[in-house]
Amino acid sequence: MGVEIAVTGLTKTFGSQTIWRDVTLTLPAGEISVMLGPSGTGKSVFLKTLVGLLKPDAGSIVINGRDLTRLREADLYEVRKLFGVLFQDGALFGSMTLYDNVAFPLREHTKKTEAEIRRIVTEKMELVGLSGAEGKLPGEISGGMRKRAGLARALVLDPEILLIDEPDSGLDPVRTSYINQLFVDLNAQIDATFLIVTHDINTARTVPDNIGLLYHKHLAMFGPREMLLSSEEPVVRQFLNAQTIGPIGMSEEKDADELAAESGQELPPLPPIALQLATSDGQPRRAERPAGAWCRDNGVTPPPGSFESRNAGIPGVRVEVG
Ligand SMILES: Nc1ncnc2c1ncn2[C@@H]1O[C@H](COP(=O)(O)OP(=O)(O)OP(=O)(O)O)[C@@H](O)[C@H]1O
Ligand SMILES: [Mg+2]
Repeated sequence: MGVEIAVTGLTKTFGSQTIWRDVTLTLPAGEISVMLGPSGTGKSVFLKTLVGLLKPDAGSIVINGRDLTRLREADLYEVRKLFGVLFQDGALFGSMTLYDNVAFPLREHTKKTEAEIRRIVTEKMELVGLSGAEGKLPGEISGGMRKRAGLARALVLDPEILLIDEPDSGLDPVRTSYINQLFVDLNAQIDATFLIVTHDINTARTVPDNIGLLYHKHLAMFGPREMLLSSEEPVVRQFLNAQTIGPIGMSEEKDADELAAESGQELPPLPPIALQLATSDGQPRRAERPAGAWCRDNGVTPPPGSFESRNAGIPGVRVEVG
């Protein structure tokens, strides 16, 4: 069922620069969570801290009853095998073929024979739609193919936790839809907890079970998708609706003059909450809940027209296909 990751009071600084402080959230086992935030708010740093590549200054990260921040390097090495990570830049080895890139974690971390490795690599490359490209070098393929090769590599050790950093940056809308569908299908098929960092609002609105927003050195909100999509909290509302009116400015925070100039401007109404992206074979999602259940349980009236369509439908933002 994947594992739960309980983060409590996590703080990360580099020298005198605080990246974020006191981040507390639980990634529920087997669910898909998305982390949003303006550029530079430390989303990639958060993923790297979760896998133990960066040490936090304070706080804990508890998985299976063990606090990762207190483990010795040898134990951390073991715990890291629970994770599959797709880094923002793909991080493929440029001089290795896609096959060897995808096989790398198996050769590094397991004693599997080359025949077993071939079976696994072939299966994962097929899963991400890269059959036939095994012999190519990363420099010879498109950005989208590199992303998918990175994803195949993140999957070979059958991770309990998948951390995925901007899978859709640089992808065209159709490929983004395919990769989103792949995540939802994978989540239904494999026992893993997903955390996806994205800047794509349609992805954020339709793919996850939970949404988080990092803003101004802290976690502004984290919770069920319907909670954030119906939220009137200014930063959450602005970000999830891709609006210019609100506290977030071009260089992250607006100054008092800019905010004063906006005061009195009417905010557009919250758009309808779309249905979650379904699996392609019609199986229920792993953590499927009835549409609107969170709103009902919490006495929140969702925006008019909610849960009627799969189209995230944010004006000016592209439309989900398929
Ligand atoms: N190893 C490091 N040493 C010092 N500072 C770092 C290091 N890694 C990241 N930072 C700083 O931490 C901040 C957050 O960086 P991060 O890459 O996590 O942002 P992000 O939210 O992922 O942004 P984007 O959306 O553009 O990918 C930045 O100011 C960056 O310069
Ligand atoms: Mg980043």
